[in-house]
Amino acid sequence: MNIRKATINDIESIKLIYNQGIEDRIATLETDVKDNEYIKNWLFRRPEKYTTIVLHDAEEILGFATINPYSSRCAYSDVGEVSIYIDREYRGKGFGTIILLELVKIAKNNKFHKLVLFALEKNKAGNKLYEKIGFKHVGVFKEQGKIEGEYVDIVIKELLLD
Ligand SMILES: CC(C)(COP(=O)(O)OP(=O)(O)OC[C@H]1O[C@@H](n2cnc3c(N)ncnc32)[C@H](O)[C@@H]1OP(=O)(O)O)[C@@H](O)C(=O)NCCC(=O)NCCS
Repeated sequence: MNIRKATINDIESIKLIYNQGIEDRIATLETDVKDNEYIKNWLFRRPEKYTTIVLHDAEEILGFATINPYSSRCAYSDVGEVSIYIDREYRGKGFGTIILLELVKIAKNNKFHKLVLFALEKNKAGNKLYEKIGFKHVGVFKEQGKIEGEYVDIVIKELLLD
């Protein structure tokens, strides 16, 4: 198992894994599956400090993690927002832990001051993973978004890096 920076050749694999997360209705408020162009615009048309990494074996990509801009306002330029997705077949085997620890190292190297994230409250695996890595609970946006007509609560977490 290895981790490397994502390249545009990984777009197809990243798209498949991200769409699994969308279809499972546990990872994101997005409900429409995405195409390659969406992934390219999201991950490959932005400054280098917003790094995307992939976890892979000899044959395939097993997951990806990325630092997104938290806000376009310059006051927040040292804040990154985390996204992490592991292929359905490989969840619960420790890979999320491995790739998120690496992403935190990269965030420090890229001079971020903190990482934040927003997770569905019912996402047990995600919330457990973040707490394990050291993210602190900031609060809950009650009934913040809708999935299939139902309001859902969103947990906010942060990790100070200095
Ligand atoms: C959330 C996700 C990234 C976690 O990665 P993972 O490889 O499955 O997690 P790990 O195996 O590293 O486990 C991390 C911790 O969560 C726990 N965990 C894993 N799956 C769990 C589950 N279904 N329910 C409860 N806890 C779970 C593990 O026990 C572990 O804690 P421990 O080391 O103290 O035992 C992965 O499940 C995933 O991609 N899910 C779909 C997309 C998603 O939800 N992304 C996050 C959006 S906020």
